[in-house]
Amino acid sequence: MKSGETELPEYSSSDEDFVDPWHVASKSATGIDYDKLITKFGSQKIDDNLITKIENLTGKRAHHLLRRGVFFSMRDMHGILTLYEQKQPFYLYTGRGPSSEAMHLGHLIPFIFTKWLQETFDVPLVIQLTDDEKFIWNDITVEEANRYAHENAKDIIALGFDINKTFIFSDIEYISSCPEFYMNICKVQKLVTYSQVKGIFGFDVSDSIGKISFPAIQAAPSFSSSFPRLFKSKKDIPCLIPCAIDQDPYFRMTRDVAQKLGGVKPAVIHSTFVPALQGVQTKMSASDPNASIFLTDTDEEIRIKIKRYADSEGGINMTDEHKKRGSYLTDISYQYLTYLMTDDDKFTQIERDYACGVLAREQLQEILIKLLQKIIGKHRQNRALVTKEMVKQYMTPRNLECSIVT
Ligand code: TYM
Repeated sequence: MKSGETELPEYSSSDEDFVDPWHVASKSATGIDYDKLITKFGSQKIDDNLITKIENLTGKRAHHLLRRGVFFSMRDMHGILTLYEQKQPFYLYTGRGPSSEAMHLGHLIPFIFTKWLQETFDVPLVIQLTDDEKFIWNDITVEEANRYAHENAKDIIALGFDINKTFIFSDIEYISSCPEFYMNICKVQKLVTYSQVKGIFGFDVSDSIGKISFPAIQAAPSFSSSFPRLFKSKKDIPCLIPCAIDQDPYFRMTRDVAQKLGGVKPAVIHSTFVPALQGVQTKMSASDPNASIFLTDTDEEIRIKIKRYADSEGGINMTDEHKKRGSYLTDISYQYLTYLMTDDDKFTQIERDYACGVLAREQLQEILIKLLQKIIGKHRQNRALVTKEMVKQYMTPRNLECSIVT
């Protein structure tokens, strides 16, 4: 089985959790063991000390996605905080692979957190739309992939990123307009061997050369020299990449070559996966519409999807059942609320009531349905206000404002 397909590749071991940019699967009923993943990937756990340090330095309460352990792993975050403390610049880099017109709830998580990072640290942000990647991997035309990039840009803009500090770009468009970006891609391509990408991504000899060379394109935005018009020609500004942990293989590879090409190793902060509607053993994914809540779903579709999941449990008496199981942590409605409910007091109360059975599962689902309808309804309204002209503005390379980039 090749990378890019939905079934697990042959090189995955059958009894371990499997995570790469295209597949997420766990055999365990409790889902991915994220502590084991930290050990396997060689990243570091985000502990209370780091969260306190962020709060002390910024004077802001940590985001609920940090406090609840959704962003759980990192590379070089302490270095980024030192830069901030010393009033040295850094920038944020994240992205989206525009495989379809609609993004799902899982995709929102890194973007919501990135917006908080941008506001909290007052730093510039670049967002890569890998329309080239989606053309190479999926059964869509290159024109469709580019159109989806512009549609997805509307969803991203609707989240409220500061236009003066944010640059969104489609690979197909930016590569042809910025030689410095392409030069960095070439440098990475020269430094990484086939054997290395095979080891990191599981490619094999029947994969297209487009797939094999693509990781260099996702690596290049980690270097500020790829953006000469954004950073007043500063070439060595360090970068921090927020993403879910499926994207880590790209940045392990990037960190390996960074110094050899005269760049700085990017720092990374990783989130867990919003699970599929069917359970915690895999992630919400655009390739399975029944496993996902899309930002285009209507109120009715949201209700049906959440309820259908409930039906799959066979209509048992949830209160007694989950009391007996003694575990509510893997319940999908509970999991989604962990990601989405920002009100701590309300969340803690719900958690307490649900854990001891005071709150029945149908009631928990109702709370989730209402919250999802509110969040997605608001998103729909905000997205409707995003014009083509606004998309063009965000996607035009220009000097980005930042109090500490001089
Ligand atoms: P893509 O489009 O698969 O995903 C976009 C972002 O969403 C994260 N993500 C999730 N987060 C939580 N729960 C989920 N179920 C879930 N599914 C996806 C991804 O980790 C990602 O952060 N190749 C990339 C695009 C890209 C990129 C980047 C992403 C280019 N440069 C830099 C992050 C950082 C992709 O196809 O993402």
